[in-house]
Amino acid sequence: MRLLAWPIFLAHWGGARAEPGKFWHVTDLHLDPHYKVSKYPFQVCPSAGFQSVPNAGPWGDYLCDSPWALINSSIYAMKEIEPEPDFILWTG
Ligand SMILES: *[C@@H]1O[C@H](CO)[C@@H](O)[C@H](O)[C@H]1NC(C)=O
Repeated sequence: MRLLAWPIFLAHWGGARAEPGKFWHVTDLHLDPHYKVSKYPFQVCPSAGFQSVPNAGPWGDYLCDSPWALINSSIYAMKEIEPEPDFILWTG
């Protein structure tokens, strides 16, 4: 009787809450506050360590953590694409 009661309870509430939801999952933003486009490939970003970063662009480089411009642009893009998510999951 107890086992039967739960599925009936869940079916009742599950049906009432079956509407689709939307959420953002944000992870690993990794800001490099010192990122800067430079003609000197060893001075682009401290996050690249001792690696040369020869083709850095204003939105970042594969070898670097993210510049502020990329993070800011991403947040604004999220707002434009889905301004009212049900929730935001920020993991790391
Ligand atoms: C962030 O991005 C928005 C949209 O492009 C821009 O209007 C704003 O000036 C930017 N803010 C900063 C602090 O970079």
